[in-house]
Amino acid sequence: MSETAFRAIGLVVGALVLLTFLVLWIRNTRQARAELGSEMELAPNKKPYLSDAELEGPKLDRSLSFALVVLGLCSLSLPFYWLAEPGRQEGAIENWDATFARRGENLYTNGAQCVNCHAAGGVGGVAAYVFQDADGQFIANASWTAPALNNLFLRYSEEEVEYILNFGRPGSPMAAWGTPGGGPLTSQQVGDDLITYIRGFQIQSLDPVAIQAAGDEGDPNDEESIAAQAEADEIEADIRAEVERSIAAGEFETIGEAVFNMGLYSGYSAGSYSCARCHTAGWSLGADVMAQVGVDLLDPEFAGCAGGNPSGIGFSICDGAVFNHFPDDTWLMPDGSWRTDDMDGIGPNGEAGVLAMDNTLILLDDKGIPVDGTGEPYIITDAGDLADCGFVAALWADDNGNVYPYDRDGTRLVVDDSSNGFVEPAEFVAPADAVNVIEFSDGRIGTGCEVIEMPPRTSQAMFEFVYNGAEAGRGYGRGGQSGQGMMPGFGAMLPPDYIQAAVDYVRGL
Ligand code: HEC
Ligand code: HEC
Repeated sequence: MSETAFRAIGLVVGALVLLTFLVLWIRNTRQARAELGSEMELAPNKKPYLSDAELEGPKLDRSLSFALVVLGLCSLSLPFYWLAEPGRQEGAIENWDATFARRGENLYTNGAQCVNCHAAGGVGGVAAYVFQDADGQFIANASWTAPALNNLFLRYSEEEVEYILNFGRPGSPMAAWGTPGGGPLTSQQVGDDLITYIRGFQIQSLDPVAIQAAGDEGDPNDEESIAAQAEADEIEADIRAEVERSIAAGEFETIGEAVFNMGLYSGYSAGSYSCARCHTAGWSLGADVMAQVGVDLLDPEFAGCAGGNPSGIGFSICDGAVFNHFPDDTWLMPDGSWRTDDMDGIGPNGEAGVLAMDNTLILLDDKGIPVDGTGEPYIITDAGDLADCGFVAALWADDNGNVYPYDRDGTRLVVDDSSNGFVEPAEFVAPADAVNVIEFSDGRIGTGCEVIEMPPRTSQAMFEFVYNGAEAGRGYGRGGQSGQGMMPGFGAMLPPDYIQAAVDYVRGL
């Protein structure tokens, strides 16, 4: 039973008791007879009192039954009081939460002074940091971005937050605060006070499930869900505006790069939406400071590849490990859904298939030649699309003018020719009258080509990993670090197409 039901029952019982007393009181005053005069005058004809028989009979019976009713009411109200206990306990918990939050706020602003680095309301800020080289020589006074905490519970579970607070981020300005990590705060100060306080200033999650859960479950149209949706829309619009602004301002070239590095120049949400703060060394110190040691944070050779901050939290994500861990490429269909089934051997005779943008299935034989068709193989362009060419350069000449035959997928048919001083084949020059010429990155040249645009290809598993973050008991990436506040989940923070863009950007590094 809900708290309100208990309150209603209590009110009814209370009203009954009150009513009984009221009735009693009125009856009493009305039965009492007015004084008629002085005792002396009236004594002789004073009305005689009730007889003993009447007093000990019906009169007594009435009084006793009335007492019984009142007793019954009293004993009934006891169990009702006991029934209301859960509601009272709920109230007590609320009270405790308010106490925790008050203590947490005091720790945040005075005791531990998180506010100095993460700012009031957890909007994020910076921490003073002395940047030194490997030998301990001074390079610069820098600021290390201290990520916003008003979206902390969108990316981490409570368990993970507790771990971060207990152990800090060694090597960064974020100290270990809890006793398990050698810090000054008790488990109640970390696990109850700070966590309750920080939870209290979280912004709305973008996750549809969380938006629904903001209101009455099962009713998508109740006011709270609608308000939560409106808040989420506003937050999403703000994130999109920041990404679009940064591209328009020339800070980044693609949406993926902009998401990966969100806030590098603008300090948006103190980098809390970015990937690079953990995956690009020195990113948290800022582009200007890193330039002093000659590092361009956006250089593809460096971005995402140089490993994480000195805190050691991040890892290089360009060394091929990503593809070993997330090899399952799949096709993103034009309608936004994923095609997950294996495209190898899906033809009636075991041919491999590919899907074009218009959703038509193209079957290829083992040489890549379309089963239905032209006899020329499809070639995958640098953009990942299929090129259907009327002619593909199949003979390449070497520096000595020797021409060698290549088969349709670019394998040289004469391999052992070192005695002739074979070098790499010279470039094939397309005839002057050729149309729709495509130069492929492997050196081949196609003429009369028709390009079939393919849906973007990426890995669903990798998308899901970045969406969900660490998941307890599931191996992922470089080992399950779940519970330790490492790889965050971005599903409640970033719109799915931005997560996709970041994943594509990482896969292209
Ligand atoms: C001296 C400045 C400083 C103080 C004080 C400080 N922090 Fe931090 N905090 C940081 C920095 C810098 C980082 C980012 C470290 C990194 O790059 O991994 C951080 C990271 C965090 C994170 C991880 C967030 C994420 O998404 O990676 C949490 C949670 C956090 N701090 C909470 C707190 C709380 C709570 C307090 C107070 C008890 C506090 N911090 C005090 C500077 C500070
Ligand atoms: C707070 C730091 C942090 C942020 C922010 C972060 N990551 Fe990570 N990420 C990690 C850590 C730590 C790992 C290593 C996995 C582990 O915990 O064992 C990791 C692992 C990965 C991996 C798997 C790499 C491998 O080979 O194992 C990918 C891919 C990845 N992150 C992509 C991203 C993307 C994309 C973003 C931004 C949307 C992002 N990360 C943001 C800390 C971070």
